[in-house]
Amino acid sequence: MAETANTTNVEVDKITYRNFESEKDLAIIIGLIEKELSEPYPIYTYRYFVQKWPQHTYLAFYEDQCIGCIVSKLDDHQKHGQYEKQKRGYIAMLAVHPDFRRLGLGRKLISKTLDKMKEDGADEIILETEITNLSALRLYESFGFIRDKRLLSYYLNGNDAYKLKLYVK
Ligand SMILES: CC(C)(COP(=O)(O)OP(=O)(O)OC[C@H]1O[C@@H](n2cnc3c(N)ncnc32)[C@H](O)[C@@H]1OP(=O)(O)O)[C@@H](O)C(=O)NCCC(=O)NCCS
Repeated sequence: MAETANTTNVEVDKITYRNFESEKDLAIIIGLIEKELSEPYPIYTYRYFVQKWPQHTYLAFYEDQCIGCIVSKLDDHQKHGQYEKQKRGYIAMLAVHPDFRRLGLGRKLISKTLDKMKEDGADEIILETEITNLSALRLYESFGFIRDKRLLSYYLNGNDAYKLKLYVK
C-alpha cells in the first residue's frame, strides 16, 4: 500500500464521477479495493452492496481509468430498546489509487455518498477503520464522524478498528 505522489500532471477538473452501472464495474472495483485495503472480501460481499445499492456506490475516472471508489449502503436499523426504526448509512469500502492521492478525491467520494444518504433520509452513518489508518481517520473526522467504539481484533490481520459514527439528525 505504498503512497506515491505522482500527481503533478493530473488535471483535476478532468476527473469524473458516476454511480455503479454494471458487472464490468464490479471487476474494476474489486481490482482497486483488493490492492488498497488490507481486509480481503469475498465476491458476494461486493455483490451484496453494489447490486442492492448501486446508487450508493461511486466510481471516479481519469482518462478512462478508474482511480477511486466508494461502496456504501443505506437501510433500516432498529436501535436496541427503541420502537422506531432509523435509517442507517454504512460506508463499506473506500480506496483511491496511490498515484491520485491528496488531490481531494477521497473527500469528494465521501461527500457524494454522504449527500446521497442524507437525501435518502439517513439518520446516522457508520463505518469501521483500522486504528492505525491515520489518513482515513483524519479524513472522516473532518466530516464530523466521531469515534464511537473500539472493536478489538476486528480485522483478519489482528488490528483493532474504530467504529466511526456521523449523526445526521
Ligand atoms: C484514505 C484515502 C481514501 C484518502 O484518499 P485521498 O484522495 O488521498 O484523500 P484526500 O486528498 O481527499 O484528502 C483529504 C484529507 O484527508 C487527510 N489525509 C488524506 N491522506 C492523508 C495522509 N496520507 N496523511 C495525513 N492525512 C491525510 C487530510 O486531512 C486531507 O486533507 P489535505 O490534503 O487538505 O491535508 C486514501 O489514502 C486510500 O485510498 N488509502 C488506502 C485505502 C484506505 O485506507 N481506505 C479507507 C478505509 S476506511
